[in-house]
Amino acid sequence: MKAAVIHEQGAPEVLQYQDMPDPVAGPDDVVIDVEAISLEGGDLLNRSILPVETFPHIVGYGAAGRIAAVGAKVTQLKVGDRVAAFNFAGSHAEKFLAPAATAFVVPNGLDIGIAATMPVAFGTADEALFEAGGLKAGETVFIQGGAGGVGIAAIQLAKAAGATVIATAPSSVDPARLQALGCDHVITYDRTDYAAEVLRLTEGRGADLVVDLVGGDAAAVSKLISTVAYKGRLSVVGLASGSAPSVAFWDIVPKNMTVRGVLFGIEMGTPRGRSMIEELFARAATGELTMPIERSFPLAEAAAAHRFVEENRPLGRVLLIP
Ligand SMILES: NC(=O)c1ccc[n+]([C@@H]2O[C@H](COP(=O)([O-])OP(=O)(O)OC[C@H]3O[C@@H](n4cnc5c(N)ncnc54)[C@H](OP(=O)(O)O)[C@@H]3O)[C@@H](O)[C@H]2O)c1
Repeated sequence: MKAAVIHEQGAPEVLQYQDMPDPVAGPDDVVIDVEAISLEGGDLLNRSILPVETFPHIVGYGAAGRIAAVGAKVTQLKVGDRVAAFNFAGSHAEKFLAPAATAFVVPNGLDIGIAATMPVAFGTADEALFEAGGLKAGETVFIQGGAGGVGIAAIQLAKAAGATVIATAPSSVDPARLQALGCDHVITYDRTDYAAEVLRLTEGRGADLVVDLVGGDAAAVSKLISTVAYKGRLSVVGLASGSAPSVAFWDIVPKNMTVRGVLFGIEMGTPRGRSMIEELFARAATGELTMPIERSFPLAEAAAAHRFVEENRPLGRVLLIP
């Protein structure tokens, strides 16, 4: 098969389009003939900085298509099923190997490209808001990193749950597009002091829940914690800034606040994770949930696609098509 492969980490141009052996399904796996690959925020980090065990390495967490092979123990899926799936690597390829536990049947009528974006973005957002963050109707949530895939999913889910939603976006994004998805207040983070703005919008109280998709050093995290309400919660999810978050513990003590880490990939295949994703797919099939697709690139142009995302900071997702 053809795949976009890295032999070293670095800028988008480390991605090489080349032949690789076809993956073989283990007993609990499926192999998917890929129709659409979701270019995740985490894929950029995996290509550039997150630890990689061996090279050559096929980058990528999420893709969708038709099942080409199933492992001997797989009973709930069959060859030909249309699925969207997650694995910790391997999506940037014509064939994607994934555990059957993290492969989800795509409902009829749901676009395969949107389906490819859903397990990681919507699953992570749901986990950060509700399982980790305990968000309830009437509360205020602040989402740092609202214009990316997980942020867009979190905006829609939080609004549907009856929360007031505040989110950051870069000035390259039209705030009206996030408002149309349910964001009550968009803060242009590269032009405005976001922490002062969150406090202003909450009349000095801070947000009941903060979802952090951005990370940063202790000073950046201290600033973020200044936006959390007394006895509020912080869901720590990502490092889109390129810097893993570190917390000054004394910041959290006087607030009696709760900090929760989220790594949804290891929860997705549990019965709870699976029913969550199945429900999210059902809601997407009705049109209640969606993901803006900014652009598609051929898989052969994976390097150009990664560069496009890094330079243009689009709203939502870019797809790769084998
Ligand atoms: N823990 C988990 O289970 C899990 C699951 C999925 C994803 N993640 C992580 O969560 C993060 C978000 O994922 P994603 O797919 O939504 O990423 P994405 O699509 O790349 O979006 C990231 C967003 O963060 C913004 N951002 C970057 N640096 C910022 C800064 N310094 N201040 C404010 N905003 C900033 C980006 O804006 P610009 O365009 O201006 O940079 C963009 O809107 C990634 O780090 C990803 O690895 C974690």
